[in-house]
Amino acid sequence: TDPALIRNFCIIAHIDHGKSTLADRMLQLTGVVEQRQMRAQYLDRMDIERERGITIKSQAVRMPWAPSGGESATHILNMIDTPGHVDFTYEVSRSLAACEGCILLVDAAQGIEAQTLANLYLAMENDLTIIPVLNKIDLPAAQPEKFAAELAHLIGCDPGDVLKVSAKTGEGVEALLDEVVRLVPPPEGVKDAPARAMIFDSVYDAYRGVVTYVKVVDGTLGRRERIKMMSTGATHELLEIGASSPEMTPADGLSVGEVGYLITGVKDVRQSKVGDTITQQHKGATEALAGYKDPKPMVFSGLYPLDGSDYPELRDALDKLQLNDAALVYEPETSAALGFGFRVGFLGLLHLEVIRERLEREFNLDLIATAPNVVYRVVMEDGVEHIVTNPSEFPTGKIAEVHEPVVRATVLAPSEFIGAIMELCQNRRGTLQGMDYLSEDRVELRYTLPLAEIVFDFFDALKSKTRGYASLDYEPTGEQSAALVKVDILLHGDKVDAFSAIVHKDKAYAYGVRMASKLRELIPRQQFEVPIQAAIGSRVIARETVRAIRKDVLAKCYGGDISRKRKLLEKQKEGKKRMKVVGRVEVPQEAFIAALSTD
Ligand code: GTP
Repeated sequence: TDPALIRNFCIIAHIDHGKSTLADRMLQLTGVVEQRQMRAQYLDRMDIERERGITIKSQAVRMPWAPSGGESATHILNMIDTPGHVDFTYEVSRSLAACEGCILLVDAAQGIEAQTLANLYLAMENDLTIIPVLNKIDLPAAQPEKFAAELAHLIGCDPGDVLKVSAKTGEGVEALLDEVVRLVPPPEGVKDAPARAMIFDSVYDAYRGVVTYVKVVDGTLGRRERIKMMSTGATHELLEIGASSPEMTPADGLSVGEVGYLITGVKDVRQSKVGDTITQQHKGATEALAGYKDPKPMVFSGLYPLDGSDYPELRDALDKLQLNDAALVYEPETSAALGFGFRVGFLGLLHLEVIRERLEREFNLDLIATAPNVVYRVVMEDGVEHIVTNPSEFPTGKIAEVHEPVVRATVLAPSEFIGAIMELCQNRRGTLQGMDYLSEDRVELRYTLPLAEIVFDFFDALKSKTRGYASLDYEPTGEQSAALVKVDILLHGDKVDAFSAIVHKDKAYAYGVRMASKLRELIPRQQFEVPIQAAIGSRVIARETVRAIRKDVLAKCYGGDISRKRKLLEKQKEGKKRMKVVGRVEVPQEAFIAALSTD
């Protein structure tokens, strides 16, 4: 295809603002999908995504479109689906980098949300042409004038330039397709150069192996050619190359400006990394496209099977999930309290939640998860550095500095909540970076916050302080040094590794007191007195005691009903199985689960 006739675009929208509905409507209007085969929401494939209403994996669909009015040629529109969630900022940024324009889709009854705003900023950084669109104008509650003004203010256009559509009824969608052709610039690239294609997504398919989605920036990639991944130098044969429309349709090749998929037979998405550049093995390009980054896990949690014998199943399940998720990392770990498990790294909290849910649902595993923690860089006085992904491995000895990751957070909320939000962010060691009114009654607050504070139920606190009206987005920006200490919890003098936490020194006392009193409620009395202590190093900062009892279950059954006695004994034996032993103390598994849940 002549690049002048290609338009590559994506849709940026908040969950539920109608991206899938609009995409489906476009597929239908361009004749790519006929009405009768139109399945609800063609682009969202995974069940869990649909249920949770999030889109994780992006894909691309090719659609032909001849703009109305005159003798216009048929153009090729490539719609690239971007993941919508904060944890996947890097993937979003690569999808955006494959486009020249984007549709900023906003619900005309809701207005813009923080996630959308963050993605809009990414689109602006990538120099995309932005087409502002209000959706759901058929709704009685729609306020198109108000929100058109808000959008115009945000991107600096005229409120009259904001398109108004209903993805549901189809109103305005043809005009929108025309505008995509008119406003989005065609891709620019060098036709006769060695090929350079950017990977913006790769998905594992059980039948075909990894399907890699690319945009060809320069040159041409042809079928059966040998290709090279520039970040690793690994080479593969191109078994198939083509475009989705929306079923995968093989072609002889993809050339400059085109978007499509390729298949090489690799079985693991880590061999086909988002952001990497593909070139020919023979006489290929020497310089990769800018912007490649290795996925970097930001949040870690220990995952342990509730039933220790499920450990091999947990390992197999993680292996399977990793085939399709280059950002998921894990290694075996042992906990004195929880047994054998894995330390698992995630891009963020949602990523963690999705993986946990898939492990439990798709693989039928019952899991105990330790409280999520971030990655710390600890510099010792002698200059040695430790990267700590598990709080219980926080080094002892003379520490010079502890560094923690920080994020830039964006909060959008009605202006009546400014005070509450500022108070919350202040409590979480945040620094205000700026504040803007989007309209009379809506405000955007920008904060720098330690990621550790966000990981610790920040989102829930924000929602409850703003009656659910605030939206949040964050992106990692670097690290800072902070006064952080490790608090240990000891039962009868023995450290419970699963409860160790790294907290700011000003909050250590509160954390210790809370954990100690929580555990006192949860741990049953034993034959002897059990002190529960919270300590920083050897300094005890809080203490509670579980008093002793004489545990004589048979004392309850006076009389000689032997079968009843046996039953009781058996019951006690069964109960024992679900007990974990820490030093001399027996702790029911439920106590661990309850103590690890944040409330
Ligand atoms: P995710 O896939 O979860 O990110 O959501 P989405 O942004 O793709 O939203 P989706 O297309 O699933 O639409 C969300 C809800 O809004 C659905 O119930 C749609 O039927 C509804 N909806 C979408 N567009 C319109 C519209 O133009 N008018 C009305 N009234 N409802 C719409």
